[in-house]
Amino acid sequence: MSEPPAAPTGPDLGRGVPASSLAEGVMLLGHVGGEPVILARSGGVLHAVGALCTHYHALLSDGLLADGVVHCPWHHARFCLKTGEALGAPAIEPLTCWRVEDEAGTIFVRHVSAAPSPGAHARRPDAPRRIVVIGGGGAGFAAAERLRREGYDGELTLLSADVDAPYDRPNCSKDYLAGAAPREWMPLKDAAYYADNAIDLRTSTAVRSLDLSGRTVTLLDGADLAFDALILATGAAPVRPPVPGFDRPNVYILRSLADCETIIQAASHSRRVAIIGASFIGLEVAAALIDRKLDVAVIAPEAIPLAKILGEDIGRAVQALHESEGVVFYLGRTAVGFPDGSVVLDDGTAVPADMVVLGVGVRPETGLAMIAGLAVDHGVIVGADLQTAAPGVFAVGDVARYPDPRSPGVLIHVEHWAAAQRQGQHAARVILGQADRFTDPPFFWSAHYDMVISYVGHAEGFDTARVDGDIAGGDATVRFTREGRLLAAATLGRDIDSLKIELDFAR
Ligand SMILES: Cc1cc2nc3c(=O)[nH]c(=O)nc-3n(C[C@H](O)[C@H](O)[C@H](O)COP(=O)(O)OP(=O)(O)OC[C@H]3O[C@@H](n4cnc5c(N)ncnc54)[C@H](O)[C@@H]3O)c2cc1C
Ligand code: FES
Repeated sequence: MSEPPAAPTGPDLGRGVPASSLAEGVMLLGHVGGEPVILARSGGVLHAVGALCTHYHALLSDGLLADGVVHCPWHHARFCLKTGEALGAPAIEPLTCWRVEDEAGTIFVRHVSAAPSPGAHARRPDAPRRIVVIGGGGAGFAAAERLRREGYDGELTLLSADVDAPYDRPNCSKDYLAGAAPREWMPLKDAAYYADNAIDLRTSTAVRSLDLSGRTVTLLDGADLAFDALILATGAAPVRPPVPGFDRPNVYILRSLADCETIIQAASHSRRVAIIGASFIGLEVAAALIDRKLDVAVIAPEAIPLAKILGEDIGRAVQALHESEGVVFYLGRTAVGFPDGSVVLDDGTAVPADMVVLGVGVRPETGLAMIAGLAVDHGVIVGADLQTAAPGVFAVGDVARYPDPRSPGVLIHVEHWAAAQRQGQHAARVILGQADRFTDPPFFWSAHYDMVISYVGHAEGFDTARVDGDIAGGDATVRFTREGRLLAAATLGRDIDSLKIELDFAR
């Protein structure tokens, strides 16, 4: 969460606007009683909804309206213009809907209209009666939330090894780590939500094994739980390289909110941090700890950070930005040890450090799937509907490997927040008989100081990264192609480009 922008802009829609001024597909930003509202015509019909995205409060009028769906400019959440419903993560809450009144060619928006009640959707009579979700991260939470929102009224259990109820994991390397976001912003829902929606959330509850033929999961304490349908959303775990000294107590990984708070605590009495890995997480941690006034060194074997994913031009710009903020890079180097007080590199350099943060990547948490005999190959293999070979057993999010809808025969594995949540939402809809193939293009964002990079698509092994615009100036699109085919695009300051490319990919 973040705070909504202050003063509303545009016309006072309560006082009316001429109908003739509202062209098809254009979002007019206005306000009603101080609330920002967008009024838009889609398919010839006028609708009005709240103008602020329910994720981080982006102004939706800066996004896109296509086929009756409003696309958020920042992290690509999708809302139904007619009902306000949050169709696609990372937004979960619906938009407020407003009544539109046409009085002799003048359009007035004065009153909130009734929200569609959760559960008012079509139900499948043969829907499973006991659903167990393993994993209380982005994907597992979104699956449980969507099941209830779509009217599933059977038993629903959400099991999480994490001590905390589902929270905003991406913020663990951004504002929350930097000290710029309060703790209240972190939970995805408050505690009452789970009770009110009959979601049996069990935190600090690890699953030990799965029995697919007996349709049970066994918890670490030995208790069994029966299911009719199961969603495996166990995510991924950080890799800890086997370097002497990396088992010291002042060497940290970052996956959970508890990890983040441990790092915040360590940073409060440290002066110098060495970050191992110039990954997205490594670099976001660098930015956050610079904000906390630490001396930050980043050690990584590659020559240019992030170049493998974002290309050399963005990689260099990200590096330059971090250097301008005071980060010192040791590139082309690997850490070979952490004797007390400094990280030793393969060329003998000693990088002084009171604490070390590891950001060298993650491995999908496939242990349970392997024990159960499910197919695993760099992730749990699922079909286009995100179902494993075992009927009624799904894998979603960072643990899953699924067919790329744009490249027949190719399986992909992505580690992105919105993608994980959308997969969870999709599996919920498949269980309820409302969906089959998962076709959303992958999307992620990464934030470094005031530079935000949006990335849509999947471009493993691109051969060309074509830059259009000024990366250092924060106004650019980089298109990643292989043999001339567009695979993905990264944008800086060009949200509409990013949304349009996503829409093209989804068609
Ligand atoms: C610090 C950080 C910052 C990030 N920033 C971004 C970003 O800016 N943009 C972006 O797109 N992505 C970002 N990501 C990636 C994104 O958070 C992940 O892709 C996403 O969380 C994956 O969701 P998931 O539900 O699949 O897995 P997770 O969110 O990891 O959740 C997995 C859950 O499964 C539980 N679990 C595991 N094993 C068991 C078991 N045996 N029994 C019970 N529970 C179990 C875990 O406790 C956890 O609750 C970031 C990740 C991290 C760690
Ligand atoms: S602010 Fe809209 S998706 Fe994040």
